[in-house]
Amino acid sequence: MRSIGMVKVVVRMVMVLIWSGTCLAETLSANFVFGDSLVEVGNNNYITSLSKANYVPNGIDFGRPTGRYTNGRTIVDILGQELGLKEYTPPYLAPTTVGPIVLKGVNYASGGGGILNRTGKIFGGRINLDAQLDNFANTRQDIISRIGAPAAQDLFNGALFSVTIGSNDFINNYLTPVLSTIERKLVSPEAFVGELITRFRGQLTRLYDMGGRKIVVPNVGPIGCIPYQRDINPTAGDNCVALPNHLAQLFNMQLKGLLQELSISLKGSTFIFADVYQIVADIVQNYKSYGFDNADFACCYVTGKHGGLVPCGPTSKVCPNRSKYVFWDPYHPSDASNSIIAKRLLEGDINDISPLNLRALFNV
Ligand SMILES: *[C@@H]1O[C@H](CO)[C@@H](O)[C@H](O)[C@H]1NC(C)=O
Ligand SMILES: *[C@@H]1O[C@H](CO)[C@@H](O)[C@H](O)[C@H]1NC(C)=O
Repeated sequence: MRSIGMVKVVVRMVMVLIWSGTCLAETLSANFVFGDSLVEVGNNNYITSLSKANYVPNGIDFGRPTGRYTNGRTIVDILGQELGLKEYTPPYLAPTTVGPIVLKGVNYASGGGGILNRTGKIFGGRINLDAQLDNFANTRQDIISRIGAPAAQDLFNGALFSVTIGSNDFINNYLTPVLSTIERKLVSPEAFVGELITRFRGQLTRLYDMGGRKIVVPNVGPIGCIPYQRDINPTAGDNCVALPNHLAQLFNMQLKGLLQELSISLKGSTFIFADVYQIVADIVQNYKSYGFDNADFACCYVTGKHGGLVPCGPTSKVCPNRSKYVFWDPYHPSDASNSIIAKRLLEGDINDISPLNLRALFNV
């Protein structure tokens, strides 16, 4: 009897320690995901759009096609897992994304979506960032009516907000073949990037006003290195295509300044700049040292010198070993690449992610 009593005391002490531990450490409470096809998990399945990934062979290593534009997990899927979430964060538009599960976060991302409303027009349906924020406003109201405003803000304080967007504003807007030829003559890269940054400042401020505090913003990757850009710009030869990379870098430089500015001006906020450009450029350049065999050909391909001319779908062929390819399809990294990128966002130094990495942000 005595020893059972002792056990109870010890159990209670351990529980007290664990509880106080969780009070001190800011473990991830929820995962709110905004962005494009790099992080979408199936919203476009529910809209009329030419940009969809809910068919084979997408998801071949996930178990089934879900709407993810990769063979396995997205970067944000991996971050959620590593930061302790038990379930993948579900898409906003799924009919099952209702009730208490929204307290663990929701994914609003949409393939083809961008910062600007007109981005991705060629796909018909897509949910651009303004509309994603409208959708978050609905979730927020739902959460407030469920647990009250103070508890909702507590939940948001401990949540990871991430906004992975901007690639489509270049690939499927400013750089769209034929359709944007005139715009490119009339609007300089500097002016276009200026418009993006101005709009993005407003959108990130709105996210803060709705409760977002720990907001991670991956920059635009080296979009001149994706198989699609390599194939439509054959004159680049074996190099990445210069103009798309130049535009991305122009945007990224101003983005870094914008996030520093917002962290100072918006009280209690931490905006984190994730240098995915630098990480992916490193993987593409040094792919062999990361264990890849190939950094310039899509694993899921139909045609093109780099397999980059047709989106991944039922008529595509799939490379023999998905883990050996940096790119899953003409546009998107493979699960193997996403794992490397996610690890560097979690544990990387200030060259990868600044002012602090995600393990430091959440003490896990
Ligand atoms: C963009 O679209 C949203 C609706 O999704 C609308 O509320 C917003 O005013 C639009 N912005 C501009 C600049 O047209
Ligand atoms: C595929 O590549 C990975 C990573 O190099 C390797 O571990 C695995 O054994 C390979 N699988 C096959 C079937 O060759």
